[in-house]
Amino acid sequence: MQTLVVDHPLASARLTTMRDARTEPSVFRAALRELTLMLVYEATRTIEIEHYPIHTPVARTTGVRLGNPPLLVPVLRAGLGMAEAAFGLLPEASMGFVGLARDEETHQPRAYMESLPENLTGRPVFVLDPMLATGGSLQHCVGLLTQRGATDVTVICALAAPEGLRRLEEANLPIRVITASIDERLNDSAYIVPGLGDAGDRQFGAV
Ligand code: PRP
Ligand code: URA
Repeated sequence: MQTLVVDHPLASARLTTMRDARTEPSVFRAALRELTLMLVYEATRTIEIEHYPIHTPVARTTGVRLGNPPLLVPVLRAGLGMAEAAFGLLPEASMGFVGLARDEETHQPRAYMESLPENLTGRPVFVLDPMLATGGSLQHCVGLLTQRGATDVTVICALAAPEGLRRLEEANLPIRVITASIDERLNDSAYIVPGLGDAGDRQFGAV
């Protein structure tokens, strides 16, 4: 498994805003949107392209467009805050959805929604979820994708815990992870430390 940490001052500054417990939900959402732009920008550095002829007002030249636009899959709820920014950079993409809620006691993901194409063979997939903690939610989500034939999955998250990365590595999934930070550890409640708290609640309020 390949893991890329996007180590950039603008990404670190947005992440700091998100970490700060005093940050209001509207500012948190804006910082997540902007951080997502940076993470998706890095994730698409090696994306498949094709060349085609165009005319500028002055001359003929060769243009570039995406050869195989990805399927974007925000993991509800918290991943919703990354969806619009990713779609903005990749207007040719399609979007599927997976809804997961982590049980507060067992920390296991409970699936409550899935809306994905039947066949993902040959299709790159970008999974959007700000938090990779135990890795249970992303392991479940990637499992849904590989069952449909996906072999090229990029997980894009704001923060990752070493425990979750280890779990995904050991699961031997066909993924790469792009994140703005690998934090220290998980606490007894399986929250990332120092982390940013509950990414869903910080965007949308506690439900
Ligand atoms: C959060 C987060 C991930 C998951 C990470 O979602 O957005 O999906 O927890 O934890 P894990 O790596 O230990 O599985 P949560 O289940 O809290 O739901 P929400 O997005 O609706 O708030
Ligand atoms: N989910 C979150 O939203 N935050 C964490 O730190 C862990 C799981």
